[in-house]
Amino acid sequence: MTATRLTRLLSGPDGDSPRLGYGADYNPEQWSREVWEEDVRLMREAGVTVVSVGIFSWARIQPAPDEWDFTWLDEVMDLLHEGGIGVDLATATASPPPWLTTAHPEILPVTATGETVWPGARQHWRPTSPVFRDHALRLVREMAARYANHPALVAWHISNELGCHNIYDYSDDAARAFRDWLRARYTTLEGLNHAWGTAFWSQRYSGWEQILPPRLAASHPNPTQQLDFKRFSSDALKDYLRAERDVLRQITPDVPVTTNFMVMNGTKGMNYPDWADEIDFVSNDHYVHPGPQDRDELSFSANLTSGIAGGRPWFLMEHSTSAVNWQPVNVAKRPGDLARDSLLHVAHGADAVCYFQWRQSSAGAEKYHSAMVPHAGEDSDLFRAVVALGDTLKALAPVAGSEREPAPVGIVYDWESWWASEQDSHPTSLLDYRQEALDWYSALLALGVRADIVTTRADLDRHRVLIAPVLHVVPAELAKDLTRYAENGGHLITTYFSGVVDENDHVWLGGYPGALRELLGIRIEEFGPLLDGESVELDGAGTGSLWTDRITVTEPEVEVLARYRTGAYADRPAVTRRPAGRGSAAYVSTRLGPEGLAGLLPGLLAAAGVGSELPAEAQGRVELAVRRDADSRYLFLVNRTDETVPLPGLAGELLTGRPADADTLVLPPREVAVLRQPAD
Ligand code: GLA
Ligand code: GLA
Repeated sequence: MTATRLTRLLSGPDGDSPRLGYGADYNPEQWSREVWEEDVRLMREAGVTVVSVGIFSWARIQPAPDEWDFTWLDEVMDLLHEGGIGVDLATATASPPPWLTTAHPEILPVTATGETVWPGARQHWRPTSPVFRDHALRLVREMAARYANHPALVAWHISNELGCHNIYDYSDDAARAFRDWLRARYTTLEGLNHAWGTAFWSQRYSGWEQILPPRLAASHPNPTQQLDFKRFSSDALKDYLRAERDVLRQITPDVPVTTNFMVMNGTKGMNYPDWADEIDFVSNDHYVHPGPQDRDELSFSANLTSGIAGGRPWFLMEHSTSAVNWQPVNVAKRPGDLARDSLLHVAHGADAVCYFQWRQSSAGAEKYHSAMVPHAGEDSDLFRAVVALGDTLKALAPVAGSEREPAPVGIVYDWESWWASEQDSHPTSLLDYRQEALDWYSALLALGVRADIVTTRADLDRHRVLIAPVLHVVPAELAKDLTRYAENGGHLITTYFSGVVDENDHVWLGGYPGALRELLGIRIEEFGPLLDGESVELDGAGTGSLWTDRITVTEPEVEVLARYRTGAYADRPAVTRRPAGRGSAAYVSTRLGPEGLAGLLPGLLAAAGVGSELPAEAQGRVELAVRRDADSRYLFLVNRTDETVPLPGLAGELLTGRPADADTLVLPPREVAVLRQPAD
């Protein structure tokens, strides 16, 4: 969907001027009628504009197969509309009711070890179950018909976090659908046997019915079977998403449709870049995982969501005002974190800031999960912070609809390489694809250099420097694109275990890094993974861990930027760079971590003419992200530290933030300023 349609959604039912959305999941079925009225009063006080309703209401809406109860939901919709609050209405299919699973236990997922996933929590349904789909689509039709013309309806929210608990199902339904998917991909058994390398371990198939999902096996299951099962599982849920969407589009063609993605630490099953085109606008859920890089990770996820949305605005559908309930220890946020975390998403393109959830539950598994209205009620610091953020978002209304301004550096994030590089039976089981990408991002934040996280579908030429960490799967076409990128003046940086296999997970022969060997001008005969805790020293480039390579330089023009000083490959090249056409291609053969990369990067960036856009005092302490529209640039300046940081020399209209005096902007600890400047 275009920015314009999202803007219209955010203009509210009366078509006021665009604003940033503010709200939450709202679960009125957990509360009495009197509480609903208080909810609307408090929502108005907080400046809430949009809520997601009905996500887990199936059992309430349809208490029995042929019984429907919409009266309570009608009343909630009316109350919200009277309060001027728009509704992102759920299709309510996320959690099937007990009557359905009792009558049809064949909709329950099955694990790789053959155990049934029983009801009792949520999302206990097979993505490929025809029985589940029939019942779910019937509910979607009822919902769409009932509320098609309700004035509160501003968007449809399909299901909830598709794949959160049910991405991998190994049931007989899944087996059937997997075979259909494989037939469509390979046409012939011959094609499949080749792709899966079934000459190995006597795995050759002579009939389609012999093929299974990678269920519990005696040893390592076939790697291409595993990779295809990941592709299939993502596609199966995408297919389900399309089925719900098609019903909605048929009945309410003008109401935009979304579903909430989970771009964050820990979720990798759903190939979201591939899903994004199926919906009218992208929305995302994000939760902070406390740790040394926690806010870098928040920024990374928001940035990647923007990449998935093609740089266009998106919706932050859920995050938390404070603690969650599902981590080993659920840490409360510190003062200032609530606003800074939200605004960091806005900095990276979110046009709405929503939470899970509006009112903290008094019962159920999520009763200790924070909300906009906590157990303590409206007389609480938390609710006051929620009201204050509502005011800030009003002040930021001009930002609504603006897109992201491309950054000089792009970091490539590729689902295929993520999936394939972390499979079993590899040189190391310690490789963490996302962590390597995040480390490069952290290093750039530490240097104050702006970077976009992009997918392989993006226009890579927009970035002067392209970092492709662990780009493991490189089909021939991608190798050509990257070569062209460098020859046309781009500066590519890649790392260990890149370029090694093709789309079938077959090794490119003749020496690593296979598909990228010529471009990089190096050849590796053997990998040298390091044991956990083992490290090697590099000349002037820090300490490496996880991985090393025995590199031979094959082209005379290749510069060796760093050598191993210790370890099995002492004195051999560790970091190389080859001038290629008008650009270059660099290779980093070990894991340097954020600090090591921050030491290495300035040289590589300088060669591309890329540096920080921030004043020296702020570099590393402040994150800069830029959005723009036809008239303006919006500079988001986010204090990453617990200290006050001055920002000399930065001028513009201050939409939010505090001027210290007439000339210098300062950022108090953990605060955010947004400056508007005229577009060039
Ligand atoms: C996800 C779900 C919500 C809730 C939150 C808790 O975002 O969509 O229903 O469970 O997690 O953090
Ligand atoms: C055993 C098996 C071989 C091979 C090797 C791998 O020796 O017999 O087929 O799997 O292990 O180490």
